[in-house]
Amino acid sequence: METMKRTVTCGDLRGEDTGKTVILNGWVHRKRDHGGISFINLRDRYGLTQVVVDADSPAELAPIAADLKMEYCLAVEGIVRARPDSMVNPDMPTGSVEVVARRIEVLSTSDTLPFMIDEKTNASEELRLKYRYLDLRSDAMRKHLELRSKVTFATREYLTERNFLEIETPTFIKSTPEGARDYLVPSRLYPGQFYALPQSPQLYKQILMVSGFDRYFQIARCYRDEDARGDRQPEFTQIDLEMSFVSRDDILSLIEGMMGHIFRKTLKVELPAAFRRIAYDDAIDLYGTDKPELRFGMEMLNGAPLADLGTFQAFKDALSSGGAVKALVVPGVAEKYSRKMIEDLEGTAKIYKAKGLAWMKAGGTVDAPAVEGGISKFFEGKAADVCALLGAKPGDLLLFVADAKAKTACTALGAVRTRLGKDLGLCEEGRFEFAWIVDFPMFEWNEDEGKWDTAHHMFTWPQDKYHATLESDPGSVKGDLYDLVLNGYELASGSIRIHDPDLQKRIFRIVGFNEEEGQKKFGFLTEAFKYGAPPHGGIAPGLDRLVMLMAGETSIKEVIAFPKNSFAQSPMDECPSEVDQKQLDELGIRFVK
Ligand code: AMO
Ligand code: AMP
Repeated sequence: METMKRTVTCGDLRGEDTGKTVILNGWVHRKRDHGGISFINLRDRYGLTQVVVDADSPAELAPIAADLKMEYCLAVEGIVRARPDSMVNPDMPTGSVEVVARRIEVLSTSDTLPFMIDEKTNASEELRLKYRYLDLRSDAMRKHLELRSKVTFATREYLTERNFLEIETPTFIKSTPEGARDYLVPSRLYPGQFYALPQSPQLYKQILMVSGFDRYFQIARCYRDEDARGDRQPEFTQIDLEMSFVSRDDILSLIEGMMGHIFRKTLKVELPAAFRRIAYDDAIDLYGTDKPELRFGMEMLNGAPLADLGTFQAFKDALSSGGAVKALVVPGVAEKYSRKMIEDLEGTAKIYKAKGLAWMKAGGTVDAPAVEGGISKFFEGKAADVCALLGAKPGDLLLFVADAKAKTACTALGAVRTRLGKDLGLCEEGRFEFAWIVDFPMFEWNEDEGKWDTAHHMFTWPQDKYHATLESDPGSVKGDLYDLVLNGYELASGSIRIHDPDLQKRIFRIVGFNEEEGQKKFGFLTEAFKYGAPPHGGIAPGLDRLVMLMAGETSIKEVIAFPKNSFAQSPMDECPSEVDQKQLDELGIRFVK
């Protein structure tokens, strides 16, 4: 069948095209009938054009136009006509013209829609994912996928110009412990044996360094069998890269340049040439998290001096057990926050294991400060000292968490800080606050298993000054590892790696792998390192999170064409799904119920 092939897109036509004969291909976005005249908004990826069927159109078009329904796919031939002044739509790029139809061909019809194709639909997530092809017709989703494509293009452009080679690594690999659970692929040829899908290309990119590819990158798909959340999917994408003969600062400045390039090219936003650096310990102390939201200040303060100033027992107890009292001054909201609202904030603190959230309100005047409500009764006659110590002004709300574990006090009050930032609208949209978190601890104590784990992964280089005390004092060792955070999200993680097989073996031992186990799981890596392994390091920004934040969204599903739902399923093609008995038999798999 010969279809009418488009000569212009639905976003092309302008006033100067008046009088031209054109062919458009697209979907019926909206249709209005007014006394024998039909107005059809025809849509494609590039825009909307108003098509008119009126007295100037051939008579046989009237019944065709009358039958058109939303999302019918059409070819329309017609003549571009200037709209009368009163009908010009300044919000539409093509709004000064319309196309008077001469021929209409219905290329395909559409069933009644499960939801309207709008700029941004308000259909439920499950429905959107079931009919993802329709959801992707919305303006919002189209823009997100366009942005994503531009971001990957800008990434490739930046890295390729700097001598990076894009190299693919396998998606069927050996199962190795890398933090999360592996997705496994059974082998038909070797029943009982499995491939794993990579949680990241980590080991392969390190081996590429041994092979001499000193600047590698890959837009890499990663797979992790962990519970989905707003910023997590079972399969996601990293901008994975690795470099040889570099120090930490080389990698940080490369990424600063790359983010600068991406934001300039895609959003026309100019980022600072360098991002601030915050030591992990300071991040915990000031913000209670290693991924602080920095679009507002309101840093936590040390409330310890208040313990001696007043008689509040929880403060004294926390300090005498070696813990901390953390304080937060929330400017100007004392009147706004009722007791009930503060109790609600306490709920947030308690999720993070705080025993409570103590509060008072600064009142009086600058010259004669007062403290009121909450625990103020424990500070009688000391209002001026309390306010001076915390820098509080009349009208400020003062919040405190005390705990025998300093980290708990920080984390809990930090969560309250983050929440207040959202509740009080302190996080300005369209603002991007990057920071590097550096000097992370190398090891974390695993309470459940009573052993040390590596905080990042096992291939991170412990900072030189701790090499002598790795075994004797693992808790104080800092790794040469760094995270990039943006607006409260961990955007990237990376490190300088171990390239010395002996040092690698020491790390394996500290996290409880014996020689044999280390050999079995990672032997190929330590083996490769025997052959002139160059010093190297790398990083991997999460592409989904980056595009999500650039798009001002809070879920990475909004920037992935076909994501899984919160239960790791795809409602559209209904996976995961059962497979034929024959397939299972071939794989030698039988289920035990
Ligand atoms: P890491 O495990 O920290 O490091 O991952 C790096 C970045 O990938 C993104 N990310 C995710 N995005 C969506 N869904 C997920 N489930 C998910 N998990 C991680 C985050 C994160 O910062 N091989 C190392 C990197 C390296 O050391 O070079 C790694 O994978 O943005
Ligand atoms: P209580 O003395 O237990 O009645 O608590 C008085 C107030 O102090 C309540 O608002 C509690 O939430 C708060 N509180 C109790 N323990 C702590 C703590 N460790 N840190 C901060 N506030 C606390």
